[in-house]
Amino acid sequence: MRTLVVGTGGREHALAIALSRDPGVSEVHAAPGNPGIGEVATLHDVDPMDGAAVAALATSIGADLVVVGPEAPLVAGVADPVREAGIACFGPSRAAARLEGSKAFSKDVMAVAGVPTAGSRTCTTPEEVAAALDAFGAPYVVKDDALAAGKGVVVTSDRDEALAHAAGCERVVVEEFLDGPEFSLFVVCDGTVGRPLLPAQDFKRIFDGGRGPNTGGMGSYAPLAWLPDGIVETVMTSVVEPTLAEMQRRDAPFVGCLYVGLALTSTGPRVIEFNCRFGDPDTQPVLALLTSPLGALLSAAAAGDLSAVPAPTFADGAAVTVVMASAGYPEGSSTGDVIVGTEMLAAEDDVDVIHAGTARTEAGLVTAGGRVLAVRAVGSDVADARAKAYEGVSSISFPGAQWRRDIAAEPLGVVEGAALLD
Ligand code: AMP
Ligand code: GLY
Repeated sequence: MRTLVVGTGGREHALAIALSRDPGVSEVHAAPGNPGIGEVATLHDVDPMDGAAVAALATSIGADLVVVGPEAPLVAGVADPVREAGIACFGPSRAAARLEGSKAFSKDVMAVAGVPTAGSRTCTTPEEVAAALDAFGAPYVVKDDALAAGKGVVVTSDRDEALAHAAGCERVVVEEFLDGPEFSLFVVCDGTVGRPLLPAQDFKRIFDGGRGPNTGGMGSYAPLAWLPDGIVETVMTSVVEPTLAEMQRRDAPFVGCLYVGLALTSTGPRVIEFNCRFGDPDTQPVLALLTSPLGALLSAAAAGDLSAVPAPTFADGAAVTVVMASAGYPEGSSTGDVIVGTEMLAAEDDVDVIHAGTARTEAGLVTAGGRVLAVRAVGSDVADARAKAYEGVSSISFPGAQWRRDIAAEPLGVVEGAALLD
């Protein structure tokens, strides 16, 4: 099977590695990829936002499967021309990607499907926002309706701050605050049914202890030993099945990864958000543990027939990913800082370097974005994987590098949640 991964980030690098390990996959290509992806795939300088160009590339290389990684091309509808070209695509259509592209749409789907989530109101005027804030009370949760690269959500006890955030957005969703540890569940969907992967946790704040602004994610681990038994089954029956059925009813069957972001509340798991793709970096540890072939799984989903493959299987033990970000992240980023030390890790069996914002220049490997790379390790348990990941981090350096010291040190939950209210 020839595969094409669309995107440039750590998620796409982790997907490309997992595809390259699938004996059924003969070729991995990427558009446009990054230097890390280039070690396992053939890179093509094609704009991931240009659906016609992606479809043309897929046709020219004879791709059997296209995997679109990031939300921006999915929401823009890049999967559609690929399917129209007769090529199997893992990633939702433009219509189905609205589950992530519009918070109001996803809340409406959840309401109609009876999915447990935070109560919410969609507001377009300051008066509506004020009334909704007062109806739900503090802590206030205000979400930009549109895609905002992780910066669209404000959780605060300060009513003025909540109002100010809403004033800067065209349309917002004001929600009830959900209390409880957060976790992510990635579900591979074929439009009708879904197959869950391992639950994972993502550390979203820039500083230790869950302080500072939100980022795209500073580290993650899987599996979550503290989750009560049966939670994945509960999420599949109370969230995923009714959502897939409702999307089918709307003639927008969801084919791709349904990312279910959840809070484990006192009344059970409730949805914080849906995303229409694998999480980044939370997918990285999950894929490190996957022992069944990824290409076969995604290709069965893209063909609308997950029943053709067995349920995915995972290694015992755990995996941890620690992100190293460049100076200035998350407000900005620094480019061109020389990265040293990544080669030394190439020889390690249990540790790998996942590239996100890197570039190869005459000066060598340099930073080229906010989240630069991640060190990912597998181990016999979370503590073992964590120790190996941090040992890897200590051997890599670049000017201004920032990373959290507490990834997977303890389950993220109350600590991070409380910090949101600073
Ligand atoms: P989102 O972009 O929807 O994932 O929101 C970003 C972060 O804001 C989440 O990871 C949560 O930590 C927090 N958050 C979002 N919605 C809620 C909610 N209803 N209650 C509590 N925290 C929330
Ligand atoms: N790690 C959070 C996300 O991918 O949205």
